[in-house]
Amino acid sequence: SRQNMKISKNPVLLCLLFILLILGRSTAQSAYTEKYRPQYHFTPLHGWMNDPNGLVYYAGEYHLFYQYYPGSTVWGPMHWGHAVSKDLVHWEHLPIALYPDSIGYIFSGSAVVDRHNSTGFGTVKNPPLVAMFTYHNMDLEKHGRLDCENQGIAFSLDKGRTWTKFAGNPVLHNPGVKDFRDPKVIWNEAVHQWNLILSAHDRIKIYSSTNLKVWKFESEFGSDAGSHGGVWECPDLFEMKVKGGSESKWVLVVNMNPGGPNGGSGTQYFTGKFDGHQFLPDSRETKWLDWGRDNYAGVTWSDVPKKDGRRLFIGWMSNWNYAQVVPTDPWRSAMTIPRELTLTKSAGNYAMQSLPVVETEKLLDLSSKILLKQENILGEKQLDNKDIDLNQCRITLLLETSKSQSDSLGMILANPSGESITIGYSYKTRLFTVDRTHSGKMDFSNRFSGIDKAPCTVGKQIKIEVLVDAASAEIFVDDGRLVMTELFFPAGKFNSLKIANYGGKLNLLSGDLMGIKRIW
Ligand code: FRU
Repeated sequence: SRQNMKISKNPVLLCLLFILLILGRSTAQSAYTEKYRPQYHFTPLHGWMNDPNGLVYYAGEYHLFYQYYPGSTVWGPMHWGHAVSKDLVHWEHLPIALYPDSIGYIFSGSAVVDRHNSTGFGTVKNPPLVAMFTYHNMDLEKHGRLDCENQGIAFSLDKGRTWTKFAGNPVLHNPGVKDFRDPKVIWNEAVHQWNLILSAHDRIKIYSSTNLKVWKFESEFGSDAGSHGGVWECPDLFEMKVKGGSESKWVLVVNMNPGGPNGGSGTQYFTGKFDGHQFLPDSRETKWLDWGRDNYAGVTWSDVPKKDGRRLFIGWMSNWNYAQVVPTDPWRSAMTIPRELTLTKSAGNYAMQSLPVVETEKLLDLSSKILLKQENILGEKQLDNKDIDLNQCRITLLLETSKSQSDSLGMILANPSGESITIGYSYKTRLFTVDRTHSGKMDFSNRFSGIDKAPCTVGKQIKIEVLVDAASAEIFVDDGRLVMTELFFPAGKFNSLKIANYGGKLNLLSGDLMGIKRIW
């Protein structure tokens, strides 16, 4: 108390205290309200983020780890940042889970619940969570060594709150491939063993193990399948029921940078058979999970309870072409909205559909809902958004056309300075497009502007659902048969929404507009 007396009598100290108090308050208040800050997507409070890592569900929590550099808003020494969610939409930040060490930076990887305690790290009663990641050694890289990437593991016995790295790391040594990373571990029930897939330059290597520590090489996939415009990264492998039937398929997801469908980073997938040793694709052609430029390194959650049964996906909402220079501060990058993946089969062809997880609906501000009435659209039709903030909303449109070659339609989000995003479809070119050539700030990179295109065949009716959040739009066409995820940085906020008939017939059948509540 004598100390207190001294402080309270010292005007300089008092002043300082006051300033600190004000500063503290204002940072807390301004957090998550900065320009371009997503309001219902996951972002770190500050610092650099890339890939989602270690996606695992355990004891009522969805874990989201992520490539994180807290020291700057550009890529640097990689840590695993950490957050948890009970519902996939509200996130709680937790302390950094894994720090770089003498073996290297902690690159991307996965996590599983080791239910049988095969590692011996825990007990069957309190099974360990085991994370597997890539150790990237910068010194070895600088010395031109090919073996700078090796795989390590770490475990947690307290629901992911604290992590211990295995003393015997690395557990999987580099065979002499420069890019040898991003391990995805799965428990393969059919063969009762662990499988591991990872990227080896532009191939996938498959391994097996009984204890997550000793790995046996099984096979390689990819020399004659898919796109090879860049390095294969962050693979995923899972089994899925084909919608509406009893058939099951294995799906292999392969991220690749560069060489994506509209430049830079992109995500391809294959369907096929997997017996624990070898992946046999149904087709060698490239299928893209998302045709936009801003969904990369996406993978799915492990250990989602069987009674839930969904395949849940999240991606990094950016592109290596410009991720490190987008105009956001004091953080860089957001995750996509978590999505549910489903597999369909038509005319012998398997295809993936993605839609926002149903939990997203909890965030809809139902009281703001505007129902759109049926109307024939001639030219441009301005929609009345009342007091819905178009920078934080969901737009759903069901449109009908005559399906003739002259039909061409669009949806335009704009602000008073004429900056805009135009989403469109032409029956002539059979292309779905997102035009961000007038989207606002673009001077940070000459690879940002452009019109992204996706081949897409639609019927007379076309359903478009768009989630807008500050600087991003996630566009789901015909229940997620086509998805495009796109960033934009308008100087001022969007306050106008139009539907456009660029030729032919266009009938707005129905639709609605709704505000989306913030999660922070
Ligand atoms: C993908 C990636 C991964 C790597 C990580 C490093 O975006 O390049 O292959 O593990 O980022 O941060």
